[in-house]
Amino acid sequence: MSQTKNPSLRDLEHHDAFIARHIGPNDTEIAQMLRTIGYDSLEAMTDAIVPGKIKSPAPLDLPMAVSEVEALAKIRAIADKNQVFKSFIGQGYYGTHTPNVILRNILENPAWYTAYTPYQAEISQGRMEALINFQTMCADLTGMEIANASLLDEGTAAAEAMTLAKRSGKSKSNVFFVSDRVHPQTLEVIRTRAEAMGIDLHVGSDADAANIDSYGVLLQYPDTFGHIGDYKTLADSVHARGGIVCVATDLLALTLIAAPGDWGADIVVGNTQRFGVPYGFGGPHAAFMACRDAYKRSMPGRLIGVSIDAEGKKAYRLTLQTREQHIRREKATSNICTAQVLLAVMASMYAVYHGPEGLTRIARRVHRLTAILAAALGKAGVAVGKDFFDTLHITGVDGKAILAKAEVARINLRRIDDASVSISLDETSTRADVVALASLFGAEADIDALDAATADALPAAVVRKSAFLTHPVFNTHHSEHELLRYMRALADKDLAMDRTMIPLGSCTMKLNATAEMIPVTWPEFGQIHPLAPASQTTGYRELIDGLEAMLVECTGYDAVSLQPNSGAQGEYAGLLAIRAYHRSRGEGHRDICLIPESAHGTNPASAQMCGMQVVVTKCDANGNVDLEDMRRNAEKYSDRLAALMITYPSTHGVFEEDIVAICDIVHQHGGQVYTDGANMNALVGVAKPGKWGSDVSHLNLHKTFCIPHGGGGPGVGPCAVKSHLEPFLPRTYADIPVGEDQKAATHGRTPHNSRSVGMVSAASFGSASILPISWMYITLMGREGLRRATQVALLNANYIAKRLSPHYETLYTGRNGLVAHECILDLRPLKDTTGISAEDVAKRLIDFGFHAPTLSFPVAGTLMVEPTESESQQELDRFIDAMIQIRDEIRAIEDGRLDREDNPLKHAPHTATQVSATEWTHAYPRELAAFPLPSLKFQKYWSPVARVDNIYGDKNVFCSCVPINDFKEDIEAFSEPNVS
Ligand SMILES: Cc1ncc(COP(=O)(O)O)c(C=O)c1O
Repeated sequence: MSQTKNPSLRDLEHHDAFIARHIGPNDTEIAQMLRTIGYDSLEAMTDAIVPGKIKSPAPLDLPMAVSEVEALAKIRAIADKNQVFKSFIGQGYYGTHTPNVILRNILENPAWYTAYTPYQAEISQGRMEALINFQTMCADLTGMEIANASLLDEGTAAAEAMTLAKRSGKSKSNVFFVSDRVHPQTLEVIRTRAEAMGIDLHVGSDADAANIDSYGVLLQYPDTFGHIGDYKTLADSVHARGGIVCVATDLLALTLIAAPGDWGADIVVGNTQRFGVPYGFGGPHAAFMACRDAYKRSMPGRLIGVSIDAEGKKAYRLTLQTREQHIRREKATSNICTAQVLLAVMASMYAVYHGPEGLTRIARRVHRLTAILAAALGKAGVAVGKDFFDTLHITGVDGKAILAKAEVARINLRRIDDASVSISLDETSTRADVVALASLFGAEADIDALDAATADALPAAVVRKSAFLTHPVFNTHHSEHELLRYMRALADKDLAMDRTMIPLGSCTMKLNATAEMIPVTWPEFGQIHPLAPASQTTGYRELIDGLEAMLVECTGYDAVSLQPNSGAQGEYAGLLAIRAYHRSRGEGHRDICLIPESAHGTNPASAQMCGMQVVVTKCDANGNVDLEDMRRNAEKYSDRLAALMITYPSTHGVFEEDIVAICDIVHQHGGQVYTDGANMNALVGVAKPGKWGSDVSHLNLHKTFCIPHGGGGPGVGPCAVKSHLEPFLPRTYADIPVGEDQKAATHGRTPHNSRSVGMVSAASFGSASILPISWMYITLMGREGLRRATQVALLNANYIAKRLSPHYETLYTGRNGLVAHECILDLRPLKDTTGISAEDVAKRLIDFGFHAPTLSFPVAGTLMVEPTESESQQELDRFIDAMIQIRDEIRAIEDGRLDREDNPLKHAPHTATQVSATEWTHAYPRELAAFPLPSLKFQKYWSPVARVDNIYGDKNVFCSCVPINDFKEDIEAFSEPNVS
């Protein structure tokens, strides 16, 4: 009797089930695709692509894969080690109720969190409308003329204000004055930046700001101790000597107190966290910058503007090509690329939902509770300051004893010094909280009686008089149905990964699995104040230590800082560490940074921010670093060589053979090697930069390790270094020596001296609350899954390049004619013969329901395709079919079957309005315009606008909500009757 062996229980438990969920192609498809490119196994293909010199000799020393259920149970146990106390610490972070409709339909909704930065305007109209609401909200509340579409955090926004003021002002002074009443973390981030950029910082009292000659001042309004100053006279005197007034502020307070723009501010920054975004132990949250219109062309970050489409209809677009305007290689003024779009969308929807009246009600209630608490404390003889919004500075108390009592009551206060504490109330504060807080000081609070007897504590001179959020969008969607449908309508306009692959080269739009996202919104991760005492955050510590160790293993470096909250911030941190290292060896004169011409714009931008001089080195005809040119420059600048920044595999999509030799040359000349790790997804489990001679890398967890892009942020850009650079990594808040932070401190700090470069982000662990995503990914995939993901990423890219090879030329290939994880399709020859540009192809792909590949980076006139491992063969084939059909259309132009001007590529994308119009005037059929492949008749994405005009929007810069009448005009222009 024959007996087939049944699977074992262990097999049936299927611990590695997630690997096949994350990786698109199954074994049969992988075999078939391998045959297409001419290999019989993934191992043989990997050997053919990756240079032997860098290949890891051993598998990753990480555990095996576990199932989703097991991984969630593990991270649940970690989360449970955090203790959620009620925090009244304030200092820039406040409790908030995330409206449930926003929590579920934005933060937990892949239509929003899997979207990419809106470079392709036509398929990004929804999120750009949300961002223009954000810009309008920030500009209105601050009383400024223009605001951007988010920055990373309040500290870095303030540092950006410092440099914007330097570029924009008339003063010859090199001094930037910072009030000693700004939040300590802001001061710390500014200190780091000022030191690197050679700006003289003067920290002093508000009164000194008028007297010290400086090119700009930074004030906090209300200040870090809660006091609301009247700065009009001060602002006038700073202006009188040609200085610029920068203000860090709180949007909720601004519903009640005068807008900084109304009393003379030139640049206003802040954090929108308390507009519905959880603490998350420090991030991510959306910061903002608002300023005078005169500075708009040198403002950092992205700016959404209003343009028109091919039909003359209003359409949104990234205006002033903001990415390019400020990240202009060595002429860059800032390195901000990824920002905080998802969180900006949340904050904007919070304002849309509550409207001006709702926000004012929330602010008034917070203020009322604060005034009542102040009155209760005053009655009991406890000294509190006056002129406050939500924060009380309580002096003359035994701070230690109060904090000990608070801890028993599971309450966090802010320790200022031994004899003073502060308390910040917020939207989540209740009557019961006020009673509990009062009792810590031996006071009683009869809430209603105190309410009746207590006046507001807002200074009369700065009570807000100007209106805000008057646009209908902030006054319409106040019922849940209205908001739900508004958010859905916006999401429906956009293409995100919940509908299609997004084959963006250099961006790695891989799966953001639901199981990875789930812990992010658990209160044990979301509801932890960034300055909560260490005893309450042991779960976070375990998560952070664990993730750092995983990343050390994946990269071959010795230490990792998770503080940078974007890739570019990781570059900045890594280059600062290199600079500090040279200085520590008496070689502070080393200031040259070699950067190949193919580098991402943030590389030179970050180098410039660290006071380094950028020397661009050439690439050869194969897209590799021109070794001779690199060697020549290393020799020429031998005495001054600080670093080489190289991306590996290169932005040309190739594993360069000479990487080890390149590292050797740099080291021989005393420099350090910085490897941009944005392409680490082609290396994990296969090779380790820390082992082939590189000294430092940043990683993009929002690419390689599955954190979603959120439409342009959040990001996490850890900085990984070899041991000699470790002492110079960013320090955490707890490391700041007491006294350096204007005596403001939170309990639980253990100050010590450090050679660190300082903080580069406002929060010690950057965007801490999204770290569970990468932790989950690595845990779910295990050592084998991670390696297989890398191999399939290589396979998918080569499969596309191979199948498209009869139709499009791949610009660069490496050994054996293979590409790495992405391929550059060269469309320049087609432009010469038919006039069809890469942009026309990108726009035509929208008619097929695809987000375009990366357009004209790193080579103008090309499309860079990165499919990632998560796309199945079926989805790859769908894309390939679309690209082949597009090539056929181009051939038809070549043959004269389609007109050179009036063809479906030049007029793409086609809207439903155009295709269904009574009249059709084009020289090609309607059906070809709308349904170039039969499958599109079953599932079709309709672009909400026609091709957006790139020039109009830059010539007519308009960056806030469009007056509703303008839309009415558009609708009327289109309202042809369609029944007779
Ligand atoms: C090669 C490379 N380096 C650096 C960056 C910057 O990363 P981030 O956008 O997170 O600042 C990117 C982002 O696109 C990149 O592709």
